[in-house]
Amino acid sequence: MILRTPRLDLREMTEEDLPALRAILQDPVTMTAYEGAFDEDMVRTWLQRTLDRYRDDGYALWAVVLRETGEMIGQCGLTVQHILDEDVLEVGYLFNRAHWHRGYATEAAAGVRDHAFESLGADRVYAQIRDTNITSMNVAIRLGMTVRGRFVKNYRGIDMPHLAFAVDRPSAV
Ligand SMILES: CC(C)(COP(=O)(O)OP(=O)(O)OC[C@H]1O[C@@H](n2cnc3c(N)ncnc32)[C@H](O)[C@@H]1OP(=O)(O)O)[C@@H](O)C(=O)NCCC(=O)NCCS
Repeated sequence: MILRTPRLDLREMTEEDLPALRAILQDPVTMTAYEGAFDEDMVRTWLQRTLDRYRDDGYALWAVVLRETGEMIGQCGLTVQHILDEDVLEVGYLFNRAHWHRGYATEAAAGVRDHAFESLGADRVYAQIRDTNITSMNVAIRLGMTVRGRFVKNYRGIDMPHLAFAVDRPSAV
């Protein structure tokens, strides 16, 4: 177990999470900001990269489990990303569409933000968000993030304008 929030447990993903991962990564609506649904190879590559990051970095996107049912309803965690010409720590969040609009993404991401500050000693946590992804921006705003700049990210061969959101470690932490 990596961390707990009032309603959620965050733990490392395994091969057994592939069905729950497919439900997220193969849903075209969920994957709008990623330019569409993933095929099976892309899902397996995503999982393998996540497992490699656990081994190499000690963190990556974690499985978000609804404690009440034991179901994996999303992914949320930390990765190193190149944002505004620097390698920085980013909080990422992608949830199964059946579980949107209940505050789970904000709850998980707030736990991950605090984990970055308190357990990893991070001074700042970023979120890189495509300029069309308003729901994700609202999560970032609820995390206390502000816009630090804009940049273009090339993903799946497409230039995508992004905003760099970030929150700084509170001085009391
Ligand atoms: C980004 C994403 C995770 C946001 O999901 P979300 O459901 O909007 O965010 P939350 O889970 O934090 O839910 C917030 C909503 O729940 C509502 N809510 C309901 N019950 C709540 C509760 N008990 N506590 C808090 N909020 C609650 C909030 O009012 C808010 O409402 P709104 O959607 O009308 O603004 C989701 O849209 C997603 O998975 N998108 C696809 C992947 C993606 O683009 N990821 C981001 C890449 S940068």
